[in-house]
Amino acid sequence: LYDAFRPLLFALPPETAHQLVHTGLETVQGTSIEDRFQTQFRVESDRLQVDAFGQSFDNPVGVAAGFDKNAELPIILGALGFGHVEVGGVTAVSQPGNVRPRMFRLVDDEALINRMGLNNDGADVIGERLSNRRHNIDHCGPIGVNIALSESTPIHEAPSDYQYTYKQIAAEADYVAVNVSCPNSEGMQELQQRDSLSRIMDALTTAGAETLLVKLAPELSDGAIEDVIDLVEIFDLDGVITTNTTTERPESLDSTEQIERGGLSGAPIEDQATKLVQYVAKRTDVPIIGVGGVSDASGAYAKIRAGASLVQLYTGLVYQGPTLARDINTGLLELLEADGFD
Ligand code: FNR
Repeated sequence: LYDAFRPLLFALPPETAHQLVHTGLETVQGTSIEDRFQTQFRVESDRLQVDAFGQSFDNPVGVAAGFDKNAELPIILGALGFGHVEVGGVTAVSQPGNVRPRMFRLVDDEALINRMGLNNDGADVIGERLSNRRHNIDHCGPIGVNIALSESTPIHEAPSDYQYTYKQIAAEADYVAVNVSCPNSEGMQELQQRDSLSRIMDALTTAGAETLLVKLAPELSDGAIEDVIDLVEIFDLDGVITTNTTTERPESLDSTEQIERGGLSGAPIEDQATKLVQYVAKRTDVPIIGVGGVSDASGAYAKIRAGASLVQLYTGLVYQGPTLARDINTGLLELLEADGFD
């Protein structure tokens, strides 16, 4: 069905198409269609279950941050077969993001470029929304909340800004992903540097933070990765998410839209992201969430074999459509079987 529907969606500007899909999903959430999705799309198997950072996941395939920025869709995304959803990025204050257009399709490359600029409803509203829906969330898996720096906050005040957001959403988050790698917010990637990240983690652990993960950019130097991994040990963090979008433009790109400013995601970053999973896995024992270009079972399997406990995707959903979580989970079972793994 998506093969027929995709050209219609792709005739619309990317953000309009996203909003249309968002509205459609929100409309069917909580109706009998959700139950039908649940039956059609969730793949139930003990072999797919993952325990990581104190949470139990029905399957390893999650929705990456940015798709459900305002935490409005976790239940219906669960019904579509995803084992977890990372909502956000959430900032302390609500913000409109950058001017449109700010999302671009690179169709020939199965990629997106975005410079959304962390548009979201803000920590107070999103914390409240999650808490109101909590009682409904039994058949959706764990919910991670991705927290990021507010546009209006100077870099040196980042620790208190993250701490405020953390406090507003902590009660509702099964894990918190500290996003210091968004390429579309002035200066934010500097927060990956050792001193800055250390001050942020200090503020969060002082606030009593539990189940903290850090999300990295793909273009970090080896030295910078080593610094982050040191901090993972020092602050006893629970995991690493790798990776966010990249500001780089690989030579392999064909689409003219590659000139747009912003973060590139999808197929062109897949291998680089998988290599980073492997690199991080060799240096730390904490669970890794592998993100970047996953669009089929073999891509998810490659990240898992590189050391990821879980995978996430966003761009793959745009190109492959709503059966993707089911297709990946079914394919993972076949790959496990073929390779003789439990
Ligand atoms: C994102 N991503 C993202 N990441 C994050 O940590 N916070 C965010 O708010 C967003 N927002 C966002 C918006 C849009 C439109 C896109 C396409 C992506 C990055 C996302 O979570 C993921 O790390 C990358 O997109 C790579 O995965 P895929 O898309 O290649 O599967």
